[in-house]
Amino acid sequence: MQDSPAASQPATASARPSPFFVERVLEVTHWTDRLFSFRITRPASFRFRSGEFAMLGLMADGKPLLRAYSMASPFWEETLEFFSIKVPDGPLTSRLQNIRPGDEILMGKKPTGTLVLDALTPARRLYMFSTGTGIAPFASLIRDPETYEMFEQVILTHTCRLKAELAYGHDIVARAKADPLVGAEASARLIHYASTTREQSPHMGRITAMVDEGRLFAELGLPELSSDSDRVMICGSEAMLKDIKSRVEARGFIEGSNAAPGQFVIEKAFVS
Ligand code: A2P
Repeated sequence: MQDSPAASQPATASARPSPFFVERVLEVTHWTDRLFSFRITRPASFRFRSGEFAMLGLMADGKPLLRAYSMASPFWEETLEFFSIKVPDGPLTSRLQNIRPGDEILMGKKPTGTLVLDALTPARRLYMFSTGTGIAPFASLIRDPETYEMFEQVILTHTCRLKAELAYGHDIVARAKADPLVGAEASARLIHYASTTREQSPHMGRITAMVDEGRLFAELGLPELSSDSDRVMICGSEAMLKDIKSRVEARGFIEGSNAAPGQFVIEKAFVS
């Protein structure tokens, strides 16, 4: 899906209704030389479930160029936030990283995705495993009151190569804890576990190794992963998804979908 072709119709000047909303950039934050987040206006008719993604992009050489982006803002907020990597030779992100307030952004009209609460059956704890920009859908889910209605405890893990790349995760967790709607629940029941793999930090190592060694659970004072008490959402690179999926399946977890809720769900962190 990360290389799914952009729709071929022009966004404007078409006799047919445009398949895209044309929105405006409100704010851009550069977190590192590889990562940035941005906020855009939200079309009044655009509804989504926390954890879903939409197609997002720009006009490039007279054609719309779009990629899948998870909404990183809560479903109830008036504006929309996204978190992106910058790929120097990436067709979209090499351009998108230069956006400024006031610029036009194209957005697909139909959100979709499997990283949604509807695809999971109820349990005691929800683990959200993310690497890199894979944290974006969880930025939305940790500010959804339903997350805390459905689960007693929510554990968000975020692993990046470097410490500076964890900054956006720290920021969205702080925002969730200060949120008027979910702040009390997030403060009491959201655990944020941030780790690095290529720079010294309080927690070092791949999340897969931490699960294998039981270090994650020991450090959090939680029991080992179990499909009886836990549900899992996974978002990261293709290799990370495969490696965590095999670990949860080895523990008997059944994959869920919108049509048939289960015990874990996965989604690729799209633009790479
Ligand atoms: P590592 O530094 O050991 O490759 P990337 O920036 O390449 O998307 O990686 C983001 C984070 O995900 C890095 O900390 C990286 O660790 C980690 N990672 C990459 N592949 C896997 C995998 N298969 N399983 C678990 N973590 C992974």
